Amino acid sequence: MDPEAIRAFEHARWERAASAYAASFGVATQLFCDAMLDSAGVGAGTQVLDLACGPGVVAGMATARGAVVCGVDFSAAMLAEARATHPSVQFVHGDAEAVPLPDADFDAVVSNFGLHHLPRPALALAEARRVVRPGGRVAFTFWAGHAENIAWKLVFDAVRRCGDPAASDAPVPGGGFGTTKDCLGALAAAGFAKVDAWLEHRVWRHADAAALVAALQAGTARMAAMIEGQRKGVLAAIVADIEENAAGYRDAGELALPIAAVVAAGIREE
Ligand SMILES: C[S@@+](CC[C@H](N)C(=O)[O-])C[C@H]1O[C@@H](n2cnc3c(N)ncnc32)[C@H](O)[C@@H]1O
Repeated sequence: MDPEAIRAFEHARWERAASAYAASFGVATQLFCDAMLDSAGVGAGTQVLDLACGPGVVAGMATARGAVVCGVDFSAAMLAEARATHPSVQFVHGDAEAVPLPDADFDAVVSNFGLHHLPRPALALAEARRVVRPGGRVAFTFWAGHAENIAWKLVFDAVRRCGDPAASDAPVPGGGFGTTKDCLGALAAAGFAKVDAWLEHRVWRHADAAALVAALQAGTARMAAMIEGQRKGVLAAIVADIEENAAGYRDAGELALPIAAVVAAGIREE
């Protein structure tokens, strides 16, 4: 694992994805925001920090609750989208592993599908503990495994059958935690108490398999790199394979694909 290679890969990818993110992959990430904000106790007047905020998906929903939000992201293009959509919210350019904000300044710290992308997510949890006040809460979301995430499973299975899953320029990822047990352990190791983690299930709707692949290509980092790495001509076979295997998820003329995430939360006691 090379932290700088991961950082450079992620940065380049998110700069590129920023303008299309909210209308593509952001549709899926938004489905889990309310559960995460509830578990962080975010309501009217809560001072909340959103780590790896992207174009402000969480900021919009937390602001609608009456919270006072500050978003941090290392992608200038993402922050430009966020500032344009939420002009009253403060957005700060910075790394989630070294947050450029003072100690104990927030009632809650959240990260919606941000920790996946960090070389060392434990550093971001340590930073979350530093910037949240004693008695404050942390909550984050993390994609569950493919058994729960049918949208992902369909794509990876199709690439395995018709293409090459290793055809990607993505570096080896950092240490992730995709199970409730991993998330509980990471929160406890960062010094949080009363930790809890559970699976939330949602449905991500697409017109067809081509729309699913287009959303992943437009709004992700590693998945986009894998899709773009496939040999010319193979992508059509991948889309056809997904379409065939997704037949059981057709609903009212669309694909209604089950997706799931771990929501994990804890409290800084002192
Ligand atoms: C999957 S998007 C999540 C965006 C948003 N939180 C949401 O709810 O959809 C991942 C975000 O993490 C940001 N990111 C990745 N690595 C980062 C780092 N080291 N520091 C800060 N932000 C980072 C990216 O720029 C991108 O905006």
